[in-house]
Amino acid sequence: MNLEFPKGFLWGISMAAFQYEMGASPDSVDPNSDWYVWLHDRQNVEKGVVSGDVPENGPGYYDLFRVDHGWACWLGLNAWRGNVEWSRIFPKSTRDVKVHVDAEGGAIRSVEVSEEALKRLDEMANKAAVNRYREIFEDLKCRGLKLILNLYHWPLPLWVHDPIKVRDTGGREGPRGWLDAETVVEFAKFAAYVAWKFGDLADMWCTMNEPNVVWSIGYTGGNFPPGLNDYALSLAAAVNLVQAHARAYDQLKEHAGRDAQVGIIYAVTPAEPAADEDREAAETANRVMTHWYFEAITEGRLAPFGVGGERREDLKGRVDWIGVNYYSRLLVKADERPPGYRVLPGYGFACKPASKSEAGLPTSDFGWEIYPWGLRKAVNMIKRYGKPMMITENGIADASDRHRSWYIVSHLYQLLKAIKVDGADVRGYLHWSLIDNLEWASGFKMRFGLIYVDMKTKQRYPRPSAYVFRDIVCSNGIPDYLAAYAEYPNILSGA
Ligand code: BGC
Repeated sequence: MNLEFPKGFLWGISMAAFQYEMGASPDSVDPNSDWYVWLHDRQNVEKGVVSGDVPENGPGYYDLFRVDHGWACWLGLNAWRGNVEWSRIFPKSTRDVKVHVDAEGGAIRSVEVSEEALKRLDEMANKAAVNRYREIFEDLKCRGLKLILNLYHWPLPLWVHDPIKVRDTGGREGPRGWLDAETVVEFAKFAAYVAWKFGDLADMWCTMNEPNVVWSIGYTGGNFPPGLNDYALSLAAAVNLVQAHARAYDQLKEHAGRDAQVGIIYAVTPAEPAADEDREAAETANRVMTHWYFEAITEGRLAPFGVGGERREDLKGRVDWIGVNYYSRLLVKADERPPGYRVLPGYGFACKPASKSEAGLPTSDFGWEIYPWGLRKAVNMIKRYGKPMMITENGIADASDRHRSWYIVSHLYQLLKAIKVDGADVRGYLHWSLIDNLEWASGFKMRFGLIYVDMKTKQRYPRPSAYVFRDIVCSNGIPDYLAAYAEYPNILSGA
């Protein structure tokens, strides 16, 4: 197999506003989101739910964006995925702005945002933030980078979600964020506004990043806001997140132009069977975690977590391209108890940090097994929906940079196989991450950057792996001198 990527392949990085923006000037601090409050909450810090690291000590992209765009150019990139932070644009409630909503029970079937409503939203928007985003996007475009603009990468404005109140009342009192269908309507207004305001600058759109991580970690005992553990609430959040995607899709088509290419980004984690008799269990896991979502937004069949099967025409055909985020796999065994499978410790995401998995494969600082073959599987899982794909995140927490170069080469090799052998239509690869940043509840310890950031001085220094990635990008393929690492980590494990 020749190790070149197709002509016109997009090479880029992904970033999230909350993880990158704050840190350089007092003006960059945005205290108006649920995540900001969540990371500062004393109880969360004392109980170790969060690390104690706070975003205002971060890499400072809001002020230093030109520096980071310069690094992207040095790497030879031609694409950049970022997002507009909802709480910056609308720190105060937009609930009073009237829009036409077609709703039935909790189902939000359509939202219409008129020109007049857009003008009202414009009066309410934080102009300094709108102008800063315009400066950032114009700078990217001037440097020849394609802008892939995302609307939601996790923080919600406080007027939409009070994570502490929701946590302390077990989800009864709010504002309750994704637990309420009203959030779908407010998100549609935000989507309409961003499309109207930045439609001239975005080359591609996505509505949200990894809705599946939001409804799972936030509501099944994880450390994301609102930190609940309740299946029914997780389900409610999932349904609202699907609807929010569909309604935002409609707004982007309406206000950014019918030819706007609107995608969704999903954390695609292939479940693999531990043994032959666990094959059905692995299929169930993939349906529960992934396929039901794509069936909803392509066919209009809503069966959250694989249960039920309501017809929802208003969800059908609501995706033009699919972003696959891939980090590792899950190994599953059949289980008599619902949902019919259990995850085996010692593999995939369930390993010890910086050690080896039960399969003898190295793990990251996070304890995620380095498993490049899973990227090919993830792409093949999504191929059946017949849409162009892009790898929108792939990377490793590896502070010492001892694995990152081989991680990149081996994953790209599997991606080449998906494209050339399996015929998958993958148009680009966006690495996570360009620079070190705030890894949500885990803070600054997890370092995903190709470029190291000294969080005190805000200086950036490229790691050795950045040079490797640059060579790959500049030759649009895996150069000869790196080809031997395509089979990594077998080399280390002897597998
Ligand atoms: C998220 C990023 C995060 C990365 C590494 C993805 O799930 O989209 O925000 O930093 O994983 O954990």
